[in-house]
Order: sequence, then structure tokens, then C-alpha cells
Amino acid sequence: MLKHEQIEKNVGLLIVLTLLVVLWGGLLEIVPLFFQTSTTTPVAGLKPYDPVRLTGRDIYIREGCYNCHSQMIRPFRAETERYGHYSVAGEFVYDHPFQWGSKRTGPDLHRVGGRYSDQWQRAHLINPRDVVPESNMPAYAFLEKSPADAGGVEAKMKALRMVGVPYSDQEISGAAKMVEGKTELDVLIAYLQGMGVEMKGVK
Ligand code: HEC
Repeated sequence: MLKHEQIEKNVGLLIVLTLLVVLWGGLLEIVPLFFQTSTTTPVAGLKPYDPVRLTGRDIYIREGCYNCHSQMIRPFRAETERYGHYSVAGEFVYDHPFQWGSKRTGPDLHRVGGRYSDQWQRAHLINPRDVVPESNMPAYAFLEKSPADAGGVEAKMKALRMVGVPYSDQEISGAAKMVEGKTELDVLIAYLQGMGVEMKGVK
């Protein structure tokens, strides 16, 4: 029988056994999440991102909005009073990868959908100081001048389908047309305006 003392005096063995314990503990916590309905079933009304919002989401990622904004409302009174219902796993089943974030220089954005008008979002992204004088958020006026990437959206949807997002062939083949003619600012606003709306009325 291996004595505790022998393990403690043998660094190599200690490392291997420690890794085994951590691995086992990790698996026990992580694996069930893949099978629980509360984490794998979409909340009522949740649909996969349409091509326009999907393209906007990629602008959000490219511009690093997640460096200042989280999309994860925690179940604390101070947060739910300010933002609305706390975030639940079923709201993120079509997010690959999720944008929960961990830094809040600006407010959480998970329930920002519908909070402001499109015009407000446009003015704010072009120059935040025009609507929030004390804001230190960068201006994104250049997005208004760049066309959204219509050519890439079908390939993105196909890739997402491979990881389980239920896009139909028809949705994919009509996707580029929906994005064509829009600017990066338009699609980013569409992304923001649909954020977290499924749980808006839920108490
Ligand atoms: C350097 C940090 C920073 C970055 C990067 C940043 N923001 Fe912000 N954002 C803020 C701050 C601070 C505020 C609060 C002041 C204001 O409303 O402008 C804010 C506010 C917002 C609001 C209003 C939220 C509300 O509930 O009032 C939206 C929407 C928003 N940001 C979207 C974006 C998007 C989209 C991007 C990326 C294109 C982005 N932000 C990048 C700091 C940032």
C-alpha cells in the first residue's frame, strides 16, 4: 500500500495523483452540464441568430466590445433591479462562442435589446458623447462607412450548423441577400436590439 508520506516525498507521483484528482472532480462538474435540460434547452422564443444579427455579432467580437461589456446578469438584487431578469443558460444555446465577458467598464448588455431606439443606438455608436456626455466609450463612426460582410455569412451559418445550430438549407441560401446593402453599423445595431429580449417579461 502506498503511504501518504511516500506520495508527499515523491514530487512526480504527487503531481500525477493531484492531476488525476482535479481531472476527476472537473469531469464530475462539467459532464452533467451537457445533459441537463436546463442548460441545453433554449428558453421559450429563442431562435438562432438571423443572418443580419449573426453578422452584427461578429462586428461585436471583432471590435472587442466584450472588453468593456459583459452579457451576463447575475442573480443579485442590485443587478436584476438595474438590468432585468438574471441571465439563464437556455438563453445562450445558440451562442458559439458565448460573449459573457468578465469586465464591466460599461454596463452589462444582455438585456439592452429594445431599451433604446435604433436612432439612439446609431447616435451613440457614432459618438457616445452626443447622447451620454460623460461617456468614455470609444466612437465607432467608421462602421457606418463599411459594408457588412454578406459574402461570408452563408459559410458561417454552415459552420454553426455543424455545432448544432438548426439552420435550414433555405435559410442559409437566402442569407447573403439579407445582409447585402447593409453597413456594419446597421447589422451591429440589429444584433444589439435583439439581445436578451426573450426573457424581458419574465418575473
Ligand atoms: C473602453 C470601453 C468600452 C468599449 C470598448 C465599448 N464600450 Fe460600450 N460603453 C462603455 C461605457 C463606459 C458605457 C456607459 C456610458 C455610455 O452609455 O456611453 C457604454 C455604454 C454602451 C451602451 C449603452 C448601454 C446602456 O444600457 O445604457 C451600449 C449599447 C454599448 N456601450 C455598446 C457597445 C458596443 C456595441 C461596443 C463595441 C462596438 C462597445 N460598446 C464598446 C464602454 C465601452
